[in-house]
Amino acid sequence: MQENIVWHEHHVDKAQRMQRLKQKPCVLWFTGLSGSGKSTISNAVEGYLFSQNHMTYLLDGDNVRHGLNKDLGFSDGDRVENIRRIGEVSKLFVDAGIIVLSAFISPFRNDREMVRGLLNEGEFVEVFVDTPLAVCESRDPKGLYKKAREGKIPNFTGIDSPYEAPAAPEIHIRTDLYDIETSVKMIIDYLKEKGYLHA
Ligand code: ADX
Repeated sequence: MQENIVWHEHHVDKAQRMQRLKQKPCVLWFTGLSGSGKSTISNAVEGYLFSQNHMTYLLDGDNVRHGLNKDLGFSDGDRVENIRRIGEVSKLFVDAGIIVLSAFISPFRNDREMVRGLLNEGEFVEVFVDTPLAVCESRDPKGLYKKAREGKIPNFTGIDSPYEAPAAPEIHIRTDLYDIETSVKMIIDYLKEKGYLHA
């Protein structure tokens, strides 16, 4: 499909954008079960970064599935395609110099590693929002676990569709040990320490 298509080099490149924006772009890739706290934590991290004049963009499963990925469901194949597209979109934003926060269950290890492979070294920061299934299920903010247990939602992650936890995430958030404020601080400290946030 790519024959007869030539890649154009652009005059304005990522390095110039990084200088202007005073930041090193990356994807903070939040993965975890539905109801684990991905959206809440990523929103809070974005709020902090934005208040510090950083350029950010939050991609969130529920929202992206209303637009770009509205043709996709929750079969294994559709989830793979969901993450592939988000990976490509994230890569474009990183090229634009932006710090991207992606919050998707992204249950399959291979798919997350595929996205890592799309980006340069250091541009993919995996954040495991580690909340036990029982806790997610007791929160059940959208009432979906209840429906899934009643057999009304097939292929629900954690119930009858697998979740493969990251083996070595850059940041591991045990939400049973840390509150939101602490979790956000862990992520910001990581970004500062690794030089993503220029003064
Ligand atoms: S992913 O597995 O393909 O990465 P994604 O993050 O985009 O999932 O979407 C997950 C959200 O869709 C959940 O938070 C939940 O609100 C909703 N949802 C609807 N059906 C399912 C399902 N079968 N499994 C998991 N989440 C579902």
